[in-house]
Amino acid sequence: MKIGVFDSGAGGLSVVKSLLAHKLFDEIIYYGDTARVPYGPKDQNTIIRYSLEALEFFNNFEIDLLITACNTVSAYALAEMNAQSAYPVLGVIEPGVLALENSLLNKDDNILIIATRATIASKRYENALKKLGHTNITSLQTGLFVPLVEEGIFEGKLLEATMEHYFSEIEQPKAIILGCTHFPLIGEKLKNYFNNEPLLIHSGEAIVEYLEARYDLFRKKEATDLKIFASDNVAGLRKIADSWL
Ligand code: DGL
Repeated sequence: MKIGVFDSGAGGLSVVKSLLAHKLFDEIIYYGDTARVPYGPKDQNTIIRYSLEALEFFNNFEIDLLITACNTVSAYALAEMNAQSAYPVLGVIEPGVLALENSLLNKDDNILIIATRATIASKRYENALKKLGHTNITSLQTGLFVPLVEEGIFEGKLLEATMEHYFSEIEQPKAIILGCTHFPLIGEKLKNYFNNEPLLIHSGEAIVEYLEARYDLFRKKEATDLKIFASDNVAGLRKIADSWL
């Protein structure tokens, strides 16, 4: 099976990392829209337009399935993308919510959702969790983590200060939904900030769980072949891929 993975930039490689580790596919075509990242601060219409343009890129390959690793795209453009593609387009929000549900938290446990401005504004995670009966949800846009990760800042004073800026008034969570492709890269630091206690929900692990449960997939012996494309600075993206993967 040959699949596409789409992200606004480099962050989706955190999802690719999980897909590669589980060896579910023969080939992954990765496309990062590095010319126009970040999508998180943009309006719904722009996010949908960019996402549909990404479909045109994937039309160059005969893929069986497209995963939008980007939470922002998953929040706004899935219906439009599915309406215009011959293959299924899966997002990461439903898998993330199911992964949290499988972790058997109590309905009144405090769940912290962190994501880009657009994803938080969409309330996709929040509404899905409320529907499942969760009553103690804190939603927080933490977009500053995106450029930090893009700059390769995974630890140190700047990250500590940014966490302090966002979290100093936040009640200790039982679980944190990492609702942005970039956040798994600083996942351990986020967990440390909250005394190493919260369960982390990671889009990459969640989508693997989801795919294994819904599709008839099994772990292959051979490694998955990965091809990386970008709308700008391909060399830069490959460099990040080399260090992240
Ligand atoms: N990929 C985006 C997401 O997961 C984060 C980066 C961006 O804002 O484009 O929401």
